[in-house]
Amino acid sequence: MNDAPLRLSIIIGSVREGRFGPKVAHWYHDQAKAFAAFDSEVIDLADYPLPTALAPFDRPRDEVVVKLGTKLAESDAFCVVTPEYNHSFPASLKHAIDHFRGEWAAKPIALVSYGGMAGGLRAAEHLRLVFAELHAPTIREMVSFHNAWSSFDAHGNSGEMDRAVSAVTTQLRQLEWWARHLHKARIADPYAF
Ligand SMILES: Cc1cc2nc3c(=O)[nH]c(=O)nc-3n(C[C@H](O)[C@H](O)[C@H](O)COP(=O)(O)O)c2cc1C
Repeated sequence: MNDAPLRLSIIIGSVREGRFGPKVAHWYHDQAKAFAAFDSEVIDLADYPLPTALAPFDRPRDEVVVKLGTKLAESDAFCVVTPEYNHSFPASLKHAIDHFRGEWAAKPIALVSYGGMAGGLRAAEHLRLVFAELHAPTIREMVSFHNAWSSFDAHGNSGEMDRAVSAVTTQLRQLEWWARHLHKARIADPYAF
């Protein structure tokens, strides 16, 4: 085990006004705090208004892109919190993913999804394909909430929350394994595309 904690960034994928995403992300953050192996923080994409169009590859990055890119580059692991929009993940998330490349590479990704009856699982499966292209392995264990709003309200189904906590614990354990070994590997032998 390394001495320094691994840096885990929990990314809120939706940016719309009135979104539900922060509730799920901050709940996950609370679970992650119990894991001494991680030093975790929430990254809210709404705080990083990226340019609408991707810049030419040879042009210096805008300040906001540098700011978000630095946060991602400093991370050892990610948890991506995604809703389901029309059977996939939101454009805000794809846009943020596409702005970067090496920042994601050889770092593990945990997926947390929420939505209607399908619990955002279709969004999560699409993200697995996208992150494979970026050389970032996704953790097999999923955390998902169907009709998420009912899980989180005061009268919500506590059995469902218990299951979610158990899934997060397994997921964080798997994420920590990947993050620890990939962290060491990236230092010993920088990842080449
Ligand atoms: C544009 C749009 C499309 C949606 N499509 C789906 C869908 O295909 N399947 C589903 O289960 N829920 C769907 N929903 C419901 C969302 O998953 C739900 O509203 C969720 O709270 C959205 O996340 P957010 O509040 O963080 O933006 C959709 C919502 C929006 C705004």
